Amino acid sequence: MSTELHVHGRIGQSVKRVEDARFLRGKGNFMDDIELPNMLHMAILRSPHAHARIKSIDTAAAGAMPGVIAVVTGELMAQHKLAWMPTMSGDTQAVLATDKVRFQGQEVAAVIAETKYQAEDARDAIVVDYDVLQAVTSPQQSKEAGTVLIRDDKDGQKDNHIYHWESGNQATTQAAFAKADKVVRLHTFYPRCHPAPLETCGCIADVSPATGKATIYMTSQAPHAIRTVFALVTGLPEQNIRVVSPDLGGGFGNKVPVYPGYVVATAASLLIGRPVKWIEDRTENLISTGFARDYHMTGDLALDKDGKMLALRVHLDSDNGAFFSDAQPSKFKAGLFHIVTGSYDIPTAHITADGYYTNKAPGGVAYRCSFRVTEASYLIERLVTNAAIELGMDQAEFRKKNFIKAEQFPYHSATGWVYDSGDYHKAMDVALDKLGYDELKKDVDARRKKGEVTGIGIASFTEVVGAGHGADFDILGLRMFDSAELRVHPTGKAMLRMGVKSQGQGHETTFAQIVAEELGIPSTDIAVEEGDTDTAPYGLGTYASRSTPVAGAATALVARKLRDKARKIASHLLEAAEEDLVWETGKFYVKGSPDRAKTIQEIAFAAYTNIPEGMEAGLEGVNYYDPPNMTFPFGTYAVVVDIDKGTGQTKVRRMVAVDDCGVRINPMIVEGQIHGGLTEGYGIAFMELITFDADGNCIGSNLMDYLIPTAWESPKFELGETTTPSPHHPIGAKGVGESPTVGSPAAYVNAVIDALSPYGITNIDMPVTSDKVWAALRSKGVTE
Ligand code: CDP
Repeated sequence: MSTELHVHGRIGQSVKRVEDARFLRGKGNFMDDIELPNMLHMAILRSPHAHARIKSIDTAAAGAMPGVIAVVTGELMAQHKLAWMPTMSGDTQAVLATDKVRFQGQEVAAVIAETKYQAEDARDAIVVDYDVLQAVTSPQQSKEAGTVLIRDDKDGQKDNHIYHWESGNQATTQAAFAKADKVVRLHTFYPRCHPAPLETCGCIADVSPATGKATIYMTSQAPHAIRTVFALVTGLPEQNIRVVSPDLGGGFGNKVPVYPGYVVATAASLLIGRPVKWIEDRTENLISTGFARDYHMTGDLALDKDGKMLALRVHLDSDNGAFFSDAQPSKFKAGLFHIVTGSYDIPTAHITADGYYTNKAPGGVAYRCSFRVTEASYLIERLVTNAAIELGMDQAEFRKKNFIKAEQFPYHSATGWVYDSGDYHKAMDVALDKLGYDELKKDVDARRKKGEVTGIGIASFTEVVGAGHGADFDILGLRMFDSAELRVHPTGKAMLRMGVKSQGQGHETTFAQIVAEELGIPSTDIAVEEGDTDTAPYGLGTYASRSTPVAGAATALVARKLRDKARKIASHLLEAAEEDLVWETGKFYVKGSPDRAKTIQEIAFAAYTNIPEGMEAGLEGVNYYDPPNMTFPFGTYAVVVDIDKGTGQTKVRRMVAVDDCGVRINPMIVEGQIHGGLTEGYGIAFMELITFDADGNCIGSNLMDYLIPTAWESPKFELGETTTPSPHHPIGAKGVGESPTVGSPAAYVNAVIDALSPYGITNIDMPVTSDKVWAALRSKGVTE
């Protein structure tokens, strides 16, 4: 009879999410649930203009209104050297405007009052006299000769250009293009969109006049990094700053940056000596906090006569808004865009990127994305489908012909990446099989013969997640490692504290599962804590699907460290040599005598009551994990659409998604992540757009204009999987959270383009709304 212990919640089990017990009952503890005694409220006055010089700010009436404690302007902040702050991309950003406003929604002044309503009423009584200037709303306009200078605050800044950045090899790429039989070009725009988490951003700053301790409750995906930035910017000693990130209602990258509201609330609490709360409303969130994308991209793919890819050339113009405050590793000006060769064995590539200031909100964040991999994946996957259509080849066959082969891993890409593992052909085959591809193609032909507009879109993305390695990836100089601290209590229950911070991804469940696997403690006996910098080990936070690749690895390794100590204690308890002990999940037994065993719970008790002479008491440890490389999840997504010629309306008939994220810790959570990401991808492809009129007014400042999908609009998803473990990750896992948002927009749009290809239509920029499709069809003379 097997003596193996049953351990609840090991890797591979779809255990229910422990956090849902409070979330589903409405018992979560989100920012706006926190009320402190004596707390004040802050409201921010924002600019109505995209570009204007501030002539004067009159705060007299506002200051005299009931309940008002203070009115804060840029001038006051400047007296404390806090009118400007550094950005994550090495630029500066106004906290409260002193000279000019540079985008609509920019922070101009703030009111601190006893109640939120009093603060908002007084804010509306502030009078600002503006001298309106020309607004610049695109990189094209930004680079035109004679365009108004946006950043005249910066010494030596003569134009609106921010950076030029290159990757790959220009000479070998040019040579390959010279020899090509065919070059396919795609010019496309990935428009500005917004992470739009359910909960907006906010904070409560509580600086105690008695102790000098600053406790800042903040909707932050990266509380430790924020603590360090605050210490550097404000000069407060870091041990006196405690950042607490409570339950977060989504983040998707929106909650990574430091926003001016956080700085003003903290300064106000410091000066007034009372806690100050600031919570954005929806419009503030949409018009002023980290947007995503806004990339204008041109890609050229060089091919030989047989359809083999020879080279890739890409140029992009990036619209960075008024301050270059992209949240990304310091060394990469265009994030990780140079993963743009994607899943294909392209011998050489050359990428050039230019960033421009415009009069739009700053802060390109990685919206469910690893620092611009989404834009890169979109471009290459769109280009590949267009090339297949132009060559008259089947999209799937063309991809398979050019995929990196399973035996080529670890694969060195033309732009310097080392892909850890993959089997792209297999993922494609599973997707095609699920789709019934051959039959489906016949069906498409038959429908087209009847005059229907229908098509299939494929995208075979490669992702790059789990930043660092720390030597190559840093945020403001902080190496991108992450951490886990594990304490096993005498009764065998455990506490796991992490440097990352969940925003709803289920970390309290999955990280406990890793410990269950490694130490044999049931996952339900492990409490996982994140988000309090006074108690959690230092980490760089959760974004870019880095939690599992980095903090998940730290968890496995700290558990193994404890297992090593447990072996020593077991050897003492069983009076057997360490090398004679066998580990079987949850217990050590003496080789050949499975009955002579000690469970991890017995060992934990002994760690506090009966340890060998000279050993430190307790069973706890910490691991700071600096990954040797990123992980490279991948997959194939396929979409079938039907388009109504009369209205231009697109209906997604089928959506098949095959993902490979290596070993799945909790398959149910992984599927949930994929459903969510495919829905967001659908929204980006068909609905969501933050755009601006010629005066720089933001169109898309509320959820009536900025359409996000609900279950009603979303397609039905058919999921499939393959499993190719990461060779360098301790449990073989890769990240998954962002894969579906990265991979799916191209699949949706490719389906539309495939459907419209018989009419010679090669591009429609997202969101692919009915009016655009209708106009494209009419431009080709197609009527009902
Ligand atoms: O960094 P973030 O948590 O956003 O992304 P992630 O590392 O991709 O993880 C998202 C959720 O899926 C977490 O709860 C993970 O532990 C879980 N996951 C999993 O169960 N198996 C994987 N191979 C990857 C993620």
